[in-house]
Amino acid sequence: MTRWSIKIALLLLPAVVAALQLPSPIISPAPPNELSRRSAVSLLITSSSAAVSSAVAPRIASASASADAAKGGDVIGSIILNSNNKKTFPLASFGLQIYDDDTAYRLTLMALEVGYRNFFASVLAGNQRGFAKAVKASGIPRDELYICGTVLSNRVSGEQAAYQKTKQGCLENMAAMAAGNIDKLDMIMLDYPGPNEESIRGQWRAFEDMALNDNTVDDLAVSNFNPAQLDAILVNLAATKPTVNQLLLAKNPQAILDYNVKRNILVQAWSPLSRALPRYGNEVDAIGKKYGKSAAQVGLRWIVQSGAAFCTQSKNRSHFEEDLNVFDFTLSDDEMTKITQLAA
Ligand SMILES: NC(=O)c1ccc[n+]([C@@H]2O[C@H](COP(=O)([O-])OP(=O)(O)OC[C@H]3O[C@@H](n4cnc5c(N)ncnc54)[C@H](OP(=O)(O)O)[C@@H]3O)[C@@H](O)[C@H]2O)c1
Repeated sequence: MTRWSIKIALLLLPAVVAALQLPSPIISPAPPNELSRRSAVSLLITSSSAAVSSAVAPRIASASASADAAKGGDVIGSIILNSNNKKTFPLASFGLQIYDDDTAYRLTLMALEVGYRNFFASVLAGNQRGFAKAVKASGIPRDELYICGTVLSNRVSGEQAAYQKTKQGCLENMAAMAAGNIDKLDMIMLDYPGPNEESIRGQWRAFEDMALNDNTVDDLAVSNFNPAQLDAILVNLAATKPTVNQLLLAKNPQAILDYNVKRNILVQAWSPLSRALPRYGNEVDAIGKKYGKSAAQVGLRWIVQSGAAFCTQSKNRSHFEEDLNVFDFTLSDDEMTKITQLAA
């Protein structure tokens, strides 16, 4: 597949989804009676991201990226979020974990070399500066990367207190990202909802400030929000909609997907390997053998084919490669159903 055909497939994706009457974000959550729709969309997702089969070929030769590599802007398995922002959201994201800035620097460069273009740099990991410095050192054009920061502001109560705490968190993100000359984020995410509806509305007001007044972020997102907590934002029809809800996609995953899709929000699975994969047992090993894939790859493929995205981390290059290389095979409907049951 050429880069042009990949780009055309990406451009056509929203139209195809509209034709299928699927809610955006783009991938169907696959209710049982809509398996054929899901397969059609899955195929598109697969073909739009066919470059991923070669994504394991490093995009950059070294920490200081070459000009050629920087042109390698094919976005792997990406979708358009409900914000309709022009930049697409890659379904596979590298989420930094808790380690020092030097480790964050090294692993971010490794992830960039392997082909990751979506990054989850949470304040909770404590290493946004190391991450940002690696982005700068890579030389990869900023517009080829999708970068998400986070704010932790759930321990204060009340609209005004939550607003102030969240606002402060937004500024702290920008101060840390400045270490790599990153002056605008693609996404900012609330790590956790505030303790009540008023607090959530205060958190969200600060996020809207960041997007609409400060122009330092494009997409707003949440994590660990249940339906009522989402509705605390959505009840205001004029509010900017959350684009993504980052969640543990296990224990009745279909219900989790459903309540987010109903609200036009993409689920991004956190800890899909360390927390969710062990639930699937040996079944995923056996399925993986059929496709020449590992259990981890089957688990991640199940996520994207279910209509969600994922955020993983590794300290191991071959695992980074595996986790990105999940867009060149398609699980059968029976396999999808089986894994959904195991996850429940
Ligand atoms: N929003 C929230 O509330 C929340 C909560 C928890 C986590 N998170 C985020 O989710 C992200 C992922 O977190 P996580 O570390 O808990 O989960 P994870 O990515 O699911 O699991 C990471 C573990 O899986 C291993 N691994 C990675 N790829 C593998 C592969 N292909 N085969 C076998 N093992 C593989 C890694 O070991 P190796 O190093 O050996 O590869 C590591 O031990 C982080 O960014 C974290 O911040 C968010």
